[in-house]
Amino acid sequence: MNRKDKYYKKAKKQNYRSRASFKLIEIQNKFNIINKNSYVLEFGASPGGWTQVIKQLTDMPIISIDINKMPPVDNVIFIQGDILNSNIEEQIDETMSKNNIKSIDVFLSDAMVKTSGIAEKDSYESYTICEQIMALSEEFLKTGGNVLLKQFQGEMTNEFLNKWRDKFQFYKITKPHASRKESREIYIIFKGKI
Ligand SMILES: C[S@@+](CC[C@H](N)C(=O)[O-])C[C@H]1O[C@@H](n2cnc3c(N)ncnc32)[C@H](O)[C@@H]1O
Repeated sequence: MNRKDKYYKKAKKQNYRSRASFKLIEIQNKFNIINKNSYVLEFGASPGGWTQVIKQLTDMPIISIDINKMPPVDNVIFIQGDILNSNIEEQIDETMSKNNIKSIDVFLSDAMVKTSGIAEKDSYESYTICEQIMALSEEFLKTGGNVLLKQFQGEMTNEFLNKWRDKFQFYKITKPHASRKESREIYIIFKGKI
């Protein structure tokens, strides 16, 4: 049985919407990013596999964003929006005010455009998304907060890490088992915003 079959079947069996759920479960078990009191803002949420996992981890409101539609997840506030559009900040701000959310404890992103197969292009687009999310974290993530980001590793990864790691108490790169070995995706964890 190959890797895809294993996680695909497991996801079906456990009623997760995508095999990606297992990446978040593994990272959470290792790094404890979310707790029961965490207000979470999730980027690149559709179809909702991570969202289902986040729901199991926190009792607090969750805001999930995707450029595409997502089938509803109970009690999850969904924003259909583009991370790279300049109005995303306003969309988040309005949604937080409307729902009486003052600040966010955890930023999560599994966002990625459809990969082209051209490594430089894919990693640059991924880097651009990650930069935008980190810029948003300066405004919405509270001191002490955590971030988990997917990034397609490339030339900009070191620059990205050098720029952001000093703004947190801890950082780490990880690659969960459910992530295909041949894929350049990595997950970057920043804990404890300073
Ligand atoms: C790998 S999928 C996420 C899977 C999800 N974590 C799950 O467990 O079901 C990546 C998502 O990123 C979204 N995405 C890509 N670029 C985006 C952008 N600029 N703004 C918002 N969402 C984006 C895609 O629409 C896609 O749904």
